[in-house]
Amino acid sequence: MKIISAVTEIREIIKEWKRNGLKVGLVPTMGYLHEGHLSLIKKAVSENDRVVVSIFVNPTQFGPNEDYETYPRDINKDSALCESAGADIIFHPEVSEMYPKGACTYVNMTGLTDALCGKSRPTHFQGVCTVVSKLFNITTPDNAYFGQKDAQQLAVIKRMVKDLNFDINITGCPIIREEDGLAKSSRNTYLNEEERKAALVLHSAITCGQSLVNDGERNASVVINRMKDIINAEPLAKIDYVEIVDMNTMESVSVIQGEILCAIAVYIGKTRLIDNFIANVG
Ligand code: PAF
Repeated sequence: MKIISAVTEIREIIKEWKRNGLKVGLVPTMGYLHEGHLSLIKKAVSENDRVVVSIFVNPTQFGPNEDYETYPRDINKDSALCESAGADIIFHPEVSEMYPKGACTYVNMTGLTDALCGKSRPTHFQGVCTVVSKLFNITTPDNAYFGQKDAQQLAVIKRMVKDLNFDINITGCPIIREEDGLAKSSRNTYLNEEERKAALVLHSAITCGQSLVNDGERNASVVINRMKDIINAEPLAKIDYVEIVDMNTMESVSVIQGEILCAIAVYIGKTRLIDNFIANVG
């Protein structure tokens, strides 16, 4: 497995793969890999002839007071994990390689990006769409893999691929959880012992919401309020949002019907964590 940092170099290798008729899978990540990422890489390995994992902490998707500087990084550990999962190349560019001096073109989406994380992090999805478009153009994958934990991101990327005519299949993969239910996230590493215990309220709220919907509750406010009560009972937790939206439009719904996304973002101390469930109600 190779670690490549130059756009020209990775392009040459992928062109050669394509000349040989090989199918290419891309797993975009910001590194500090965990079992969630590994499940994406393994899926990509099982469905493609060659797999590229990009590891790039993308500055444009972080707001001014967010954790870009402190975001955890460990390329040595990441490369060992990628190799064991069967990846062929890690694309690990410098910021100056991805955003050379003078770069001033961004990919911007309206509508889908206004709700949920887009409301609390107004420039986040512009950064995500821009970097993912660039990664798609650089690596020209046949297939790309994203985690369902960032359900809004997955919906945004699927829409972007459709709207901008990228010839790429997007696959969403299920949330991978710790044994006690906490969704795996690189940001879990920020939590101290007490916060780690408190972070379980996210899973408790999600489990409660899901049971209510499964048991036939169709009033979104009832579900949201029960979930909020659970989170508010934890002194270290502060709600950013608890919302139920239409899976296709990301607009809030008052009646739970069709395919819905119930998504939450909660601060545990200074760490912002997200979780969600999707339901299809006939
Ligand atoms: O989900 C992530 O890790 C990032 O948002 C992504 C898709 C790699 C873009 O930087």
